[in-house]
Amino acid sequence: MAKSSLNNDLSIDPLNIPQHVAIIMDGNGRWAKKRHLPRVAGHRQGMQTVKTITKVASDLGVKVLTLYAFSTENWKRPADEVKFIMNLPVAFFSSFVPDLIKNNVKVRVMGILDQLPKKTQEAVNNAIEETKNCTGMVLNFALNYGGRSEIELAVKDIVKEVEAEKISSADVNEDLISDHLMTGSLGSLRDPDLLIRTSGELRISNFLLWQIAYSEFIFTDTLWPDFNENIFKELILEYQKRDRRFGGLDKKDS
Ligand code: FPP
Repeated sequence: MAKSSLNNDLSIDPLNIPQHVAIIMDGNGRWAKKRHLPRVAGHRQGMQTVKTITKVASDLGVKVLTLYAFSTENWKRPADEVKFIMNLPVAFFSSFVPDLIKNNVKVRVMGILDQLPKKTQEAVNNAIEETKNCTGMVLNFALNYGGRSEIELAVKDIVKEVEAEKISSADVNEDLISDHLMTGSLGSLRDPDLLIRTSGELRISNFLLWQIAYSEFIFTDTLWPDFNENIFKELILEYQKRDRRFGGLDKKDS
């Protein structure tokens, strides 16, 4: 990991900020267990970290921050925990929308939303509506999201369009597939430049499977509730040391 001096914003190159940062926020349960607290205490603290990192990312000039809040597999958790997580967007937006507007942050959500409890849907839809005129960073929550089901839905959409003769099978290419994914409306920002996973787990867990083809990955041992501004900035510095070749050669080698 980058050995930067903490809080040394000067060493972050403002011209090389990852435009789209995606985060797998992991380790809430372990954070709580270490403190002999119920797991949900970790999720509550994790929500505070979301607030901190949203502000830091927006201030740094990140254009899209995608946060994996609930996967299509997370329904397997105990009902009480699921209920608690489903209430987090309600608590988050009811306290944080004014700050989001002040920071010009626009809320967006991706996932199978009609399976969410009504009050979660309402909280999310209100936040989208209230921030719709914001023109700064997009705060994109993945809620009841799964990469494989996203691809399945995109394929079904494309097949329907071919069957309806709106497009022909010859039109099916990488761009068309990207357009049909849940990140499609993000246009040129749809693929993350940087994917971070906290808590030391070295897995992708069905997150943005198509979109991360050329993302830089950083895995940090920090548990999500302990993740903070300094650590985020260190990871941005680490990203800035990476040599992104997208399958090509370094300029100096070509
Ligand atoms: C993974 O940690 C975390 C989750 C499944 C929930 C993530 C949700 C938040 C961080 C809050 C989101 C906030 C909003 C506004 C939606 P884990 O429970 O798997 O941790 P463990 O691996 O240590 O058990």
